[in-house]
Amino acid sequence: MPTADSAPPASTTTTCQVCDGSVEEFLDLGRQPLSDAFLTERDVPEEFFYRLAVGVCHSCTMVQLVEQVPRERMFHEDYPYYSSGSSVMRAHFEETARGFLATALAKPDPFMVEIGSNDGVLLKTIRAAGVRHLGFEPSGKVAAAAMEHGVRVLNEFFDAGTAARVRADDGPADAIFAANTICHIPYMRSILEGVDTLLAPDGVFVFEDPYLGDIVAKTSFDQIYDEHFFFFTARSVRAMVARFGLELVDVERIPVHGGEVRYTIARAGARTPSDAVAELIAAEEAQGLADPATLRRFADATARIRDDLRALLQRLRDEGHEVVGYGATAKSATVTNFCGIGTDLVSFVCDTTPAKQGRLTPGTHIPVRPAAAFADPYPAYALLFAWNHADEIMAKEQGFREAGGKWIRYVPHVHVS
Ligand code: SAH
Ligand code: TYD
Ligand code: ZN
Repeated sequence: MPTADSAPPASTTTTCQVCDGSVEEFLDLGRQPLSDAFLTERDVPEEFFYRLAVGVCHSCTMVQLVEQVPRERMFHEDYPYYSSGSSVMRAHFEETARGFLATALAKPDPFMVEIGSNDGVLLKTIRAAGVRHLGFEPSGKVAAAAMEHGVRVLNEFFDAGTAARVRADDGPADAIFAANTICHIPYMRSILEGVDTLLAPDGVFVFEDPYLGDIVAKTSFDQIYDEHFFFFTARSVRAMVARFGLELVDVERIPVHGGEVRYTIARAGARTPSDAVAELIAAEEAQGLADPATLRRFADATARIRDDLRALLQRLRDEGHEVVGYGATAKSATVTNFCGIGTDLVSFVCDTTPAKQGRLTPGTHIPVRPAAAFADPYPAYALLFAWNHADEIMAKEQGFREAGGKWIRYVPHVHVS
């Protein structure tokens, strides 16, 4: 595998990565760093940047980035996102695993494959049930964390080639699952070819990712960053999988990460699609999700949030208040870089992830400190970058409000509470 340093620069295209149609750009978020590249001082002069812009395909309606960052630059030995960092997400994936055990895996000698198994947050439940499984996870340290739980992991990218190898060695998969990973992968044709090779005749391919319907409704423009290449709808996913002899048979809206959809896919004709598929596609039509005018309004709303957030932070600074960031999320790279938020406006960001602590945020170089730094002493204001984990974080940081502190949020608009 090439190392991050030897990987090529970003490449630009206005050709749809799914159907070769033409992509019309509707939002430019400017020059951006890798969203999960937390830096040491020594890394700063060499920092990698690309242009973050998003467009919509005129043919298949898929919303996607127009510039592609090579995968080795993002997913490598030191990739610092650990899925198990949230108790809500741990519970979510345990429940998801139990759902598979009760359905697609409730048969003799079942086999489950996960794409992007990260630290084993889901597969550890499958393993504990004694079920044959394999995680594909190219990022070394998170893969090693899963292996420490006894989870079986292949430290490689899933694609057509690696899928064929696993099919030959392990046989067909009854369930292929991916959370917050399929939207990360521009080489979609290779992925779906791999799914086609590996999936059992009556197997299911299930994936969940941030939903364009929620992103537009909430103006959560921070879901757009290097790793999030595609922004799916039921309509675009149905068209995408149909090109590979697969069929979208169910959709479910789920509340995690600010609003996602879980897509269930089977071989064409193998299952009857649920009513939920047609219902969601009709709702998308009503929301105008495939209409460039809707997407341009989303771009305008994004610019308003940038202006409001900058104005608020500048006022607080001028009034002498300290603002601390909460959660060194990948999403916050888009916010801080697009809005021009550096150490002049936010003094540090606290985060529970050891791999991020002691480092600087990508592009804006704000120090990342452990969560304990938050209360030492509490700042006047906290900018909640991990807004998707608001309930979990506010429950454990009750002392902040009791001390008079206020939370700043920017989804769906800038507000203080
Ligand atoms: N499923 C976890 C992790 C999401 S982060 C969760 O929902 O929390 C995305 C993960 O996908 C990263 O760990 C990254 O290393 C991995 N990934 C990226 N490209 C991949 C590919 N082609 N095959 C398998 N995993 C991939
Ligand atoms: P998340 O929003 O899950 O994803 P992304 O990086 O893709 O935007 O990231 C949450 C970050 O917030 C992660 O670095 C862990 C951190 N975090 C805390 O510091 N405290 C918490 O209580 C929780 C839930 C997360
Ligand atoms: Zn297309």
